[in-house]
Amino acid sequence: MRSFAGRDILSLKDFERNEFFHVFDVAEELEPIAIQRRNSNLLAEKTLVTAFYQPSTRTRLAHEAAMHRLGGHVTGFSDAKMTRAGDFYQESIKDTVKMLEFYGDVIVMRHFQQGAPHEAARWASVPIINGGDGWGEHPTQILTDLYTVLKEKGTLDGLRWLAVGDMRMRTMHSLGYALTQFDCPITFVSPPEMSLTDEFRADLKQYSLDFREAEHVEQAIAEADVILVEPVVQPDYTKSRDERGAEVGQTPANYKITRELLASKAKPDAILLHSLPRMDEIPPDVDITRWSRYWQEAFNGVVMRMALLALVLGAME
Ligand code: CP
Repeated sequence: MRSFAGRDILSLKDFERNEFFHVFDVAEELEPIAIQRRNSNLLAEKTLVTAFYQPSTRTRLAHEAAMHRLGGHVTGFSDAKMTRAGDFYQESIKDTVKMLEFYGDVIVMRHFQQGAPHEAARWASVPIINGGDGWGEHPTQILTDLYTVLKEKGTLDGLRWLAVGDMRMRTMHSLGYALTQFDCPITFVSPPEMSLTDEFRADLKQYSLDFREAEHVEQAIAEADVILVEPVVQPDYTKSRDERGAEVGQTPANYKITRELLASKAKPDAILLHSLPRMDEIPPDVDITRWSRYWQEAFNGVVMRMALLALVLGAME
């Protein structure tokens, strides 16, 4: 297996099956630190730089929390408008990263341009972690989700997935690529204008993912072991910021997971994931049903980032 030390985490496309399990093993080893709300000193001599060109609650703060849990330091920006990349100069990724690499030992970047973290990785002498790039990928979120499934179901292979939402979305891309490494048939349900792109569909076929597409969650929920939901009412991910307009759409029933639907159609032991933020696709009364696992997912988001930081910084092998 390739070492993770010094490695960029940009995509799950070429992540090998044994690498997934290695990351999960390391996460499990570090998890007690987060459970006990302790801070260790594993990364006491290391600094994380957060470079966020798009809003985030979870991805940035989970990375920062993970760094604190491992005793490391954090610096960075969450509003690119206050940097030279966001003013008159529109400083390039290259010039920005050639500075940031001296301010810390690993950089987590979120950007509205697909491929921006890959461009950063071309120039940086420190590892780059992709915190979401435009419509591209969101690898650390899907690693979190797979870890959650492994913890909750005790296995990854042999589970049938249902993914609901906008299939142009970065999480869906990372999910599709990740599931190619497991025995996990998946059904994608999305509005027609948000269906799998031709390029992504061809990629999934080439990587032998067992997938089909359906129009309504009711057509697939009964057989699902894992239900992963994302909004279909959402901002434009190619913008640095997309304010809410006066009119906000509502999620059609085809893409909504309600308490009634779960109770009448879902397997009793199915689990429901949502990386959040949400609109109305999962109403709050689902939160305390036996299917919901998104708060566990949130906790695991810190644990997963602990594992990734420890691995790429060479503190765990
Ligand atoms: N799930 C996720 O990426 O959330 P944030 O946009 O808040 O980081």
